[in-house]
Amino acid sequence: MRRIFKYGGLLLSLIMMLSCNKNEIEIQLVPEPTFLSATGGQYRISSVASIYLGSDDADLKMAADFFKDRLSVSAGVNLNLEVNSANAKGIHLTLGSLDFSDSPDAYELIVTGKSVNITGNSSRAVFYGLQTLLQLLPPEIYGDEELLKAKQLLIPCVEIRDEPRYSWRGMHLDVGRHIFPLEFIKKYIDLIAMHKMNVFHWHLTEDQGWRIEIKKYPLLTEIGSVRKTAEGDTYGGFYTQEQIKDVVEYARTRFVDVMPEIELPGHSVAALAGYPELSCTGGPFEVRKVWGVAADVYCAGKEETFEFLENVLSEVVDLFPFEYFHIGGDECPKIRWEDCPDCQKRINDEGLADEHELQSWFIRRIETFLQTKNRRLVGWDEILEGGLAPEATVMSWRGVAGGIQAARESHDVIMSPTSHCYFDFYQGDPANEPKAIGGFLTMEKVYSFEPTPEALSTEEAKHILGAQGNVWTEYISTAQQAEYMAVPRMSALAEVVWTPADLRDYELFLYRMKAHYLRLDAMDVNYRIPGPVVSANSFVFLKEFTLELHKALDGAKIFFSADGSDPVESGQEYIEPLVFTSDTHIKAIVVMPSGHTSSVIDIILDQQDIITGLDLVRQEGVSYSLFEGNFKSVYDFKDVKASSYGAISVPGFPDELPDGAYGLVENGYIQIERAGIYRFFTFSDDGSVLSVRGQEVVNNDGLHGGKEASGEIALGQGWHPFELRYFQAGGGSILELEYSGPNIEKQSIQKENLASYASAMKMI
Ligand code: ACM
Ligand code: ZN
Repeated sequence: MRRIFKYGGLLLSLIMMLSCNKNEIEIQLVPEPTFLSATGGQYRISSVASIYLGSDDADLKMAADFFKDRLSVSAGVNLNLEVNSANAKGIHLTLGSLDFSDSPDAYELIVTGKSVNITGNSSRAVFYGLQTLLQLLPPEIYGDEELLKAKQLLIPCVEIRDEPRYSWRGMHLDVGRHIFPLEFIKKYIDLIAMHKMNVFHWHLTEDQGWRIEIKKYPLLTEIGSVRKTAEGDTYGGFYTQEQIKDVVEYARTRFVDVMPEIELPGHSVAALAGYPELSCTGGPFEVRKVWGVAADVYCAGKEETFEFLENVLSEVVDLFPFEYFHIGGDECPKIRWEDCPDCQKRINDEGLADEHELQSWFIRRIETFLQTKNRRLVGWDEILEGGLAPEATVMSWRGVAGGIQAARESHDVIMSPTSHCYFDFYQGDPANEPKAIGGFLTMEKVYSFEPTPEALSTEEAKHILGAQGNVWTEYISTAQQAEYMAVPRMSALAEVVWTPADLRDYELFLYRMKAHYLRLDAMDVNYRIPGPVVSANSFVFLKEFTLELHKALDGAKIFFSADGSDPVESGQEYIEPLVFTSDTHIKAIVVMPSGHTSSVIDIILDQQDIITGLDLVRQEGVSYSLFEGNFKSVYDFKDVKASSYGAISVPGFPDELPDGAYGLVENGYIQIERAGIYRFFTFSDDGSVLSVRGQEVVNNDGLHGGKEASGEIALGQGWHPFELRYFQAGGGSILELEYSGPNIEKQSIQKENLASYASAMKMI
C-alpha cells in the first residue's frame, strides 16, 4: 500500500496511524517534516553496509561521521565510509541543489528496499536528513551501550522532502546563576541537534557569576566566578578557553552554532567585583548572591570601560566563529548614570537627550567595534530604547511588541517572548512541581506559538528569523533539573520553528511524542512527563467517593498509594476507578516503561456531613471592610482595624479603592437551594481565601499573579455565611468568585442568592 500525506490534515494522518499494521514500522518524527510519503517495505542496515559520499567535502564527511559514530556506539556496527556514487546499494549522501526549496537546510530522503539516498542543499541539510534517518530507526539508536545489538536496524521505506520554516531555531542556557558540567553542555547540544535546531545561545556572564576565562583580565574569574551564598557557602566555577573551544568544536560537528552572550551594560556586578573602577561609584562590590536586577552597571562615561570591553570581546570573538554575538542589553537601571559626572559629561559631549540615549550610544559603540571583528550584534529588546544600533538583531522577550517594532524598522528579530518561550516557568500546578521562578507555560502553549505576528506585512515578516527557548537558571541548579525544564518543551518549540504552520496539530504531535520519549529515555534525559490527570487536588464527599485518574501518555502506568506513602515504593498500579469511604490522602504518579516517572500528585479526600442552612430576613448586598497596609497574606490584617466600610451587590471590588496596597474582607450569606457538595473557585491577583461556615474552603493566599484555586464543602438548603479575604500588593488586581454544585454549572453567584451580614437570622 502506498500512503501519502502531503500537508495532510488530521484525517489523513489519523488514517495513517490506524492503518499501520504489525509488519509496518510506525513513523513518528519530531519535528514533523514538510512532506512525507510512506512507500511500503523496509531497508535494513547490515553490519557490512557502506556510506557513500557524493563528493570529497569535509563537512559532508563530518555529517557522515556523526551517523557512523552513533551506529557504532548504539549498535556496534562499523559502517564503511567512502567517496563513491556509483554503487546502487548502501547509504548515499550527496550535496545537490533541490528543486523544491532554496533553503540551505532543505534535504530529500528516499529510502527504498535497496538504498538510502539523502540529498541536501548543504552538508547541514544532509545532517538533518541523517537526523530523520535516526528517528526512523529504533529509539535505542540514541543510547550509548550497544542497546541495539540484538535488534535489526530496519528503516521503513519513505520519501521525505523537508525544509525548516525558520532559519533561527535556538535554545538558550544561563550558566551565570548556576554553572553546569561540560558533559551536560554537550548533552544539551545533542538535544538541540536531534531536534534539527541550530543555535546554542550560551549566556556566560551575570551579576551572580562570570563563567568564561579571559586571559587579559584574570580577576573576572578569580573573583567574578565565585559568590558567597545566602547560606554562607561559596558557589562558583568557570569554563577555560580550552573547554570553550572543545564545546564549540563539539557543536560544529553537530552543525550547531554557538552564540556567546557577554552581558552589558547591566547584569555585570560579577565583572565589577573584580574591576570596580569600571563602575560609576568605584565600588567595592561583591558578586551578587540574590537574583533580580542590580543598580550597579558599567560606567558609560569612562573610556576604561570601553577599553576593557573591547579587550574582553576580542578574546571571546576568537573563541566563537558564529557571526552573531549577543551583548545582553536588558534590565540596565540608569540610576548610577544619573549621578555620575563621567556619564553626565558623556551625555553632554555626545549631545544625547538622556540616559536612555546613553544606553543606545553604548550599544552602538559596541556594535561598531563588533563590526570590525565581522560580528553581528544581537541584544534583548531593551536595546530599542533610545534608538536601535544600525545593524542590530533584536531578541524580543518582553512579549512580541519589541520584535514587531524592530521588524518595522527593518531589523532582524528572534522571537523569545516570556509567554511562550521561557522554559524556566512552571509547567504544571506549582503544588506538584519543583520550585520554579513563577509563570506558567505548558508544552501545549509552547506548541501553539506563532513566531510571526499577524500585524506584520509580508515584507516586514521576512525579518523574523525564528524563535528561541530560554532556560534561565535562578531556580535550576542541576543538570537533571535543567533537562526537566527544557524537555519536552523544546520538542514543541522545535516543531514550531521547523514545521509548516498548517501541518502543526497538537494531538498528532502528542502521538508522535510517544516514540520521542523513548529516544529521550535512550539518551537518559530527565524529561518532564505529566502526572496523573485528575479534575482537582481535593474533594469533599458524603458517603463514598469514586476517584478516576487518567494519564496523558499511552504506554505509561499510574501507581498510587492511599496512606500517604511513596506510590512507587509501596503503592499499587491503578487499573480502574477507586472507591473510598473515609478521609484519605492519595499519592499518585505516572511511570514510563523505562521507569522514568512524573512528579507525585497529592489528592485529599474529605468526608463531611451536610451543614444545615440558616433562615434569614434577606437584606441585599455584601458588606466589606478595607485595610490600609502592605500585606503578604490575607491573614496579615486579621487583627487590624478597618479604615473604611461599605456594601456591594456581589463579591468583587468596591468602586472606591485605595491607590496602593490594601487588604479587603467581604462578608455575606449565600443561598443554597439544593443540598449537596458545592465547589467554590477564586481567581485572584494577589492572594485570597474563601471561608464558608467558618471553614476555609479555597486557599488562594500569598503573593501571586492571576491564579485560580478551588475547594469543596457540603452545604444544606438555606443561607450560609461566608467570608472572602483578599489583598492587593501591587501589579495586577483581580478578584473573582464562582461556584458549581448540584444542577449548577460553574458561574458567579447571582445577586438574588446573596445577603448581607447585617441581616437577622434564625435556624431553619
Ligand atoms: C531577560 O529575560 N532578562 C532577557
Ligand atoms: Zn558613570
